[in-house]
Amino acid sequence: MFPENFVWGVASSAYQIEGTDAEDARGENVWDAFVREGRIYGGHNADTACDHMHRYKEDFALMQELGITSYRFSLSWSRILPDGVGAVNGKAVAMYRDMILEMKKRGITPYVTLFHWEFPLKLYEKGGWLNEESVEWFGNYARVIAENFSDIAEYFITLNEPQCFIGLGHLSGGHAPGVKLEPAKVFQITHNVLKAHGRAVQMLRQYAKQPIKIGYAPTCGVAYPYTERPEDIEAARSVYFACDRQPIENWTWNVAWFSDPVFLGRYPEEGLKLFAPYLPEITKEDMELIHQPLDFMGQNIYNGYWIRQGADGKPEYVDRPADFPMTACGWPITPECLYWGVRFLYERYHLPIYITENGISCADTVAQDGAVHDPGRIEFLDKYLSCLQRAVEEGVEVAGYFLWTFLDNFEWEKGYKERFGLVYVDYPTQKRIPKDSAYWYREVCRTNGGNLTYRKDFPKR
Ligand code: BGC
Repeated sequence: MFPENFVWGVASSAYQIEGTDAEDARGENVWDAFVREGRIYGGHNADTACDHMHRYKEDFALMQELGITSYRFSLSWSRILPDGVGAVNGKAVAMYRDMILEMKKRGITPYVTLFHWEFPLKLYEKGGWLNEESVEWFGNYARVIAENFSDIAEYFITLNEPQCFIGLGHLSGGHAPGVKLEPAKVFQITHNVLKAHGRAVQMLRQYAKQPIKIGYAPTCGVAYPYTERPEDIEAARSVYFACDRQPIENWTWNVAWFSDPVFLGRYPEEGLKLFAPYLPEITKEDMELIHQPLDFMGQNIYNGYWIRQGADGKPEYVDRPADFPMTACGWPITPECLYWGVRFLYERYHLPIYITENGISCADTVAQDGAVHDPGRIEFLDKYLSCLQRAVEEGVEVAGYFLWTFLDNFEWEKGYKERFGLVYVDYPTQKRIPKDSAYWYREVCRTNGGNLTYRKDFPKR
């Protein structure tokens, strides 16, 4: 059973759904430039996306109809502050305030993410996250958020998936800004980003108009045990928080480096040794700034990988069989990650956890009967949520679950190729069609998980 006050929600991000109507006086962000460079699948862009900025009233009405009572969404930094700092765009503040009031009118609790990858272009031109001033730029933005929205919103999340916007954006280059920097620069960026998180927490608390709750939403694949033998569990736990599992060209896929400083006030010892040649100066004051008290931890969890103890006593990866289940975008379907992920995180960080994202892209189509039948999504969610339920029943403090995502949307470098939504979007007409999974999820929310085919033996080997 899920606790009575368990939060069932959906998640989204601004750039993926809003559209970029020039009338709004927004400033550009690094994704606009990335789109212009032609680096998106099929030459797609986010000019219209789901046109949510003009349709949010209908979208929230639909959300209410579908029984969803919590919504995690993001604000666009350069929509609110076109230059990243300085003048505030009143139109953007008015729109977001109206959005929040509209969702609240419909019984939907807002969870506001400050940064979901849209770094202001004007500030990128001044060095972006590599410039140490980014700590104050982001802090200033957080102050503007607190001043303008904290009277009507109570839950705030600083950063979405630093592993991705740092690693994919600045190390492998597949996401905006799309550069491949040397490792030392990426460690500097990471340190600045973590400090910016801390500064934002300080500013949010200082300028908030009511007591607010603040969290953080990192991500990473989950190392989970191949069997439930204690030695495999220990092997998986050690790999999940290890620093030595990835080559340096890929080092940002790391849980401990991004979460230990935030929740424990220190970088992992192992990483400090291993990464020593690349590290910037790290002071005691920096660590204090990063380690601000938080009310909850968020974690975006989509999948994981098997680990067991090898014959030599060391952890080893276990290959997946050729017919292992995969999503439409080729991600493995590994429900157990929702059990082991939250369990390992809770053991280490001791904070209530929200799954701030989890979901699946499917090859959804409109059927002859006009509906969108997506049994694969229902099966995926049913299995994943059953594993989450197991964690809850074993005492892990899981506060809520935000399904990614409400509307099909602009899936970053993959454009509109992937459909992650509970609601199908026909882009040429902007028509919304709730998929079968939306009605199924409505029952999950209504019955507090009572319709899940929860099997206690499901994940065990
Ligand atoms: C991101 C979302 C994205 C989703 C599916 C997450 O990494 O936060 O913005 O759409 O995964 O790829």
